[in-house]
Amino acid sequence: MKENFEMIAKTFYGLEEILAAELRTIGAKNIIQHNRALSFIGSNETMYKANYLSRTALRILKPIIKCKVQTPKALYKNVKKYEWERLFSLQETFAIDTVVSSEYFKHSKFVALKVKDAIVDRFRDELGERPNVDVDNPTVRISVHIFNDTCTISLDSSGDSLHKRGYRTASTAAPLNEALAAGMILLSGWDKGSEFIDGMCGSGTIPIEAGLIALNIPPGYLKESYGFMKWKDFDSELWQKIKDEVEVKAKLDFKIIASDKSEEAIAATARNINSAKLSKHITIEKKYFDEQKSNAGFGTLIMNPPYGERLKEDDLNQFYTEIGDTLKVNFTGFDACILSASMSSMKKVGLKTSRRLTLFNGALECKYHKYELYRGTKKKFHEED
Ligand SMILES: C[S@@+](CC[C@H](N)C(=O)[O-])C[C@H]1O[C@@H](n2cnc3c(N)ncnc32)[C@H](O)[C@@H]1O
Repeated sequence: MKENFEMIAKTFYGLEEILAAELRTIGAKNIIQHNRALSFIGSNETMYKANYLSRTALRILKPIIKCKVQTPKALYKNVKKYEWERLFSLQETFAIDTVVSSEYFKHSKFVALKVKDAIVDRFRDELGERPNVDVDNPTVRISVHIFNDTCTISLDSSGDSLHKRGYRTASTAAPLNEALAAGMILLSGWDKGSEFIDGMCGSGTIPIEAGLIALNIPPGYLKESYGFMKWKDFDSELWQKIKDEVEVKAKLDFKIIASDKSEEAIAATARNINSAKLSKHITIEKKYFDEQKSNAGFGTLIMNPPYGERLKEDDLNQFYTEIGDTLKVNFTGFDACILSASMSSMKKVGLKTSRRLTLFNGALECKYHKYELYRGTKKKFHEED
């Protein structure tokens, strides 16, 4: 019988609902939404699938200790009680990540040190020796989360953050996080079967994620290792079965277009698309956005334009007004979604929004607006359709 346990999936602010839907499709149960995280119940199969298939998750954690702590001593005691020697051996290594928001514990480094001491002392007491810490490539990555006096200690089944898909070999200034780009696409309502354009593609993250989604290529298809692969209970047959079950599409019968005005951005996009193995599915064009046009009649455009460090406010306002004009004239019938950290410039787009969300690009608060660019009224569009 499959053993079920609790897991926590971490994500970006604003993507919790999308991730909940992704987890539901892979069979997760009892999904509860939190801020930038979800908890759910599932088996090893659910855990492997969550790592391999969910596009908006950053990490999948497996809680092993939950306790109330108000002092370093209490933390030490609770951690030392756990049978760590059953999880990894003296020859293997561990690392500790901490997130602390508590009136009782002010410094996350101090918390990490206490947890490390407790684990090391447990090994010394039980086996006479201690295992080593390896921050970069540990056998077991341990996540410590303390919120006020509630402490959760988990095993990190992902290892490296899941947004690192492995295709980004070239970068331009301010590339989007891959999981955020995937979340923006899933939030846009794109049908995965009609034209898709990013007219300011930078290093190509949005069109690459769109290609992966449309072809049903798992976000983890290039990744060679996950944290859970080093665990004692790793089931390689189950892992292989999960990978074999995915049905990837061979080709698309619509266009995905990545364009940018910059030579450097186009070169980075081409390199990344190549390492993502999507060269035959994505069209790359060096173009200014106002030269970009679609005759497809409908489709989806998603982009994150520059938002200002280098542009003066007046120029920025003018730039966003022009984006609005191009959308109106050149993309009739499209849904367009724009992510920007410049709230005032977003108002200059001058089109009616059909959806407004707040997302975070790293620590930067952004607005994500959707515009439905119907020809005439909504009703008329549907009649023509
Ligand atoms: C914030 S970056 C996009 C980052 C991208 N989403 C990524 O993940 O790498 C904005 C991009 O817009 C491009 N850009 C700025 N003005 C443009 C214009 N008028 N037409 C086309 N591209 C433009 C810049 O060259 C830059 O690559």
